[in-house]
Amino acid sequence: MITYTDGTFHLKTQNTSYIFRVTKFGHIESLFYGERLEEQNFEALAVKQTAEIGSTVKYDESDPMYSLDTMALEWSGIGKGDYRHSPAEIKMPDGSFVADFTYEGHRITDGNLSPASVPSSYGDTKDCQTLEIILSDRVNLVTLLLYFTVYEKTDVITRRTVLKNGNENPLVIRKLMSMMTDLPDRNYTCVTFQGGWIRETHRQDTQIRMGLYVNESTTGASSNRRNPGFLLAEQGATETQGRVYGFNLIYSGNHYSGIELSDRGLVRVMTGINPYCFEWPLEKDGEFETPEAVMTFSADGYNGTSGHFHDFVNEHIVRGDWKGKERPVLLNTWESNFFSFTERKLMRLAVRAKKLGVELFVLDDGWFGKRDNDKAGLGDYTVNRKKLRSGLQGFSRKIGRLGMRFGLWFEPEMANPDSDLFRAHPEYAVQIPGRTPSYGRNQLVLDLCNPEVRDYIVASVRGILDSADISYVKWDMNRHMSDMYSKCIGNQGEFFHRYILGLYNILGRIFGDRPQILLESCSSGGNRFDLGMLCYSPQIWSSDDTDPVERLEIQRGLSYLYPLSTMGAHVSWSPHQQTLRTTTLASCFNTASFGCLGYELDLSFLSRFQKKEVSEQIAFYKEHRSVLQYGTFYRFDPLKANKVHWETVSGDRSRAIAGFFQTQVKAAESFDFLPLTGLDLSSRYLLRTRPQPVYINRFGHLINFLLPFHIHPEGFLMRLISKFYRMTDCVEEYEGYGAMFEAGLKLNNQFEGTGYNTATRLPGDFGSNLYVLTRLEEIGKAG
Ligand code: DGJ
Repeated sequence: MITYTDGTFHLKTQNTSYIFRVTKFGHIESLFYGERLEEQNFEALAVKQTAEIGSTVKYDESDPMYSLDTMALEWSGIGKGDYRHSPAEIKMPDGSFVADFTYEGHRITDGNLSPASVPSSYGDTKDCQTLEIILSDRVNLVTLLLYFTVYEKTDVITRRTVLKNGNENPLVIRKLMSMMTDLPDRNYTCVTFQGGWIRETHRQDTQIRMGLYVNESTTGASSNRRNPGFLLAEQGATETQGRVYGFNLIYSGNHYSGIELSDRGLVRVMTGINPYCFEWPLEKDGEFETPEAVMTFSADGYNGTSGHFHDFVNEHIVRGDWKGKERPVLLNTWESNFFSFTERKLMRLAVRAKKLGVELFVLDDGWFGKRDNDKAGLGDYTVNRKKLRSGLQGFSRKIGRLGMRFGLWFEPEMANPDSDLFRAHPEYAVQIPGRTPSYGRNQLVLDLCNPEVRDYIVASVRGILDSADISYVKWDMNRHMSDMYSKCIGNQGEFFHRYILGLYNILGRIFGDRPQILLESCSSGGNRFDLGMLCYSPQIWSSDDTDPVERLEIQRGLSYLYPLSTMGAHVSWSPHQQTLRTTTLASCFNTASFGCLGYELDLSFLSRFQKKEVSEQIAFYKEHRSVLQYGTFYRFDPLKANKVHWETVSGDRSRAIAGFFQTQVKAAESFDFLPLTGLDLSSRYLLRTRPQPVYINRFGHLINFLLPFHIHPEGFLMRLISKFYRMTDCVEEYEGYGAMFEAGLKLNNQFEGTGYNTATRLPGDFGSNLYVLTRLEEIGKAG
């Protein structure tokens, strides 16, 4: 995977090459990152400089052409002629900011040399190899280690850095990125995933122009505003073709990525901990390690890059008992009850859920202390016996006896001022002596920099987990940081990072020896959806927005960076709480099924037909969940602006599920394609629409055109007919070779205002369908 020949390093994955060399002055010069190359000599790929460049600083008088400002580099310092942004800003032991890190040596090791303080990717000696390049600033006796770990099969290379102070005098780190590289400009578009509460990970495309473009968070978490993951796509790249680079960071705190196009046509990319309010002193022999950055490349468009990320996350990030394991279908009590419930009410919900096929019952917020709204109780995890008279143990056993597993919500990083915890320990909360703190959702953040607070959280959560039959935990975190200050640290520039290190410490201590517990992390939805959290929690609640139309955008955004097995996705009641939009149960399911399925609605509102519909959905999901959670996922470039097409294909290509989603209906529109890919071209498949119901009341007054008599569209008769009669949306069935399906399947026409028959598709506004493709041999085997 890694070779070193005549000063040149060649890092190879299955389909990519990453090549750089040591220059005569000891800098690390980038030669290439992209498609896999088999050459030995890469001189042709180097940026050439045959004459002195005007308005630059010579690094050394002996070579007028050697200017750091115009070179493609893998790391750059400050004050030696490179005027682009440096990945490091260090107040060096000599008191200056000038740093010049040059090559001292390197080591190549099989496996991954994991950092000690932050979670990281993992792999054994067969999976990966690590290159450690030792650089030093010889004047200051400061060492910088650059780590590159090559994951051959998943086409991912990770990078991180470690800074060591060998000087008697201290230094202060103000910025230390995990990676930096310079790519030749190819008219890149930077794709970032932006948003806020209930509108996370909306794709934003920004053309990279001269200057610096920044993707960062400053909220204390990786944030719902800008996910740490981003892509750089060559001009014209699509979902299926074109050169696309992907970057992400295994970190849950403030992140920073800078993309800087220089006047000399080089694009500098760096990512790491945000320098915002960051300051980290290092005494003699002290060292600082950055989180790990993740890089990938594909020449097969965005799907190629996201496919690499998906495999990498499933193989080398998610760990423990839930690695590669199918996720249970859950019912979460939040949207149906909020804080108001009793044990009887919950049991009724649980009995209904079990009948429909739900496997895991999750009790969300409100089960403890005086938690009847979001103003009180956070921090007091003693069960509220008025709501849960059998206590947690009794209640979890009842759920167990019904044949479901039990899961519980916590928000351990926070406290309401109106809580016993805060009254007893106001010093546990993050606030500055002498300054009134600012609140978010009526709560304060607990100081995870404080070991006593960490011990308290660990002991209380462990105590509860061991007191009842709990096999799933939803770990929530519902506010951004403010008033950042900890009495436990001398330098408040360490606060943000130490908070996140404290969180990782807590998660490791609670769940490290409870790998059977499925942890779903959450932060007001997707406010902390990142690779750091995925090292502890195999799935993350994607968004508090359960409107399937919004989810198309949110889950699409996430899918560029994270696999479907990590995305919590629930079916909820319409009109949706977040948008007031009215959608069908079928569309809620069709969208949520491209993720870890859950239900978050009051099941007592379901009619007889709707119950049947939900149990059919769950049965369908269980039958196909290995593909829906772990298949190779494809997005398609929209053929029409009002459509979304997704597909997931099993590893052996024997099965595929395709999703057709329509946002706004258009009158008398031309035919719809069902784009398909990833099939075995020479195998025969059967394609069939997943049958889904159409309720009579959907037709309103139009029903009168079908009936021999007239009824009121909202009257008693209509309700009666709807009770005993439902229709099935058009089911299409085709058989053929994979090659034919990929050539361009055209679906039956939609309703066009000219009448209805059973072969007419009825998506309307926000309608959707799933299509199952099964290789015929598999049907043969089964039957
Ligand atoms: C925010 C989460 O995203 C919701 O799902 C729910 O758990 C609430 N917090 C509970 O307060």
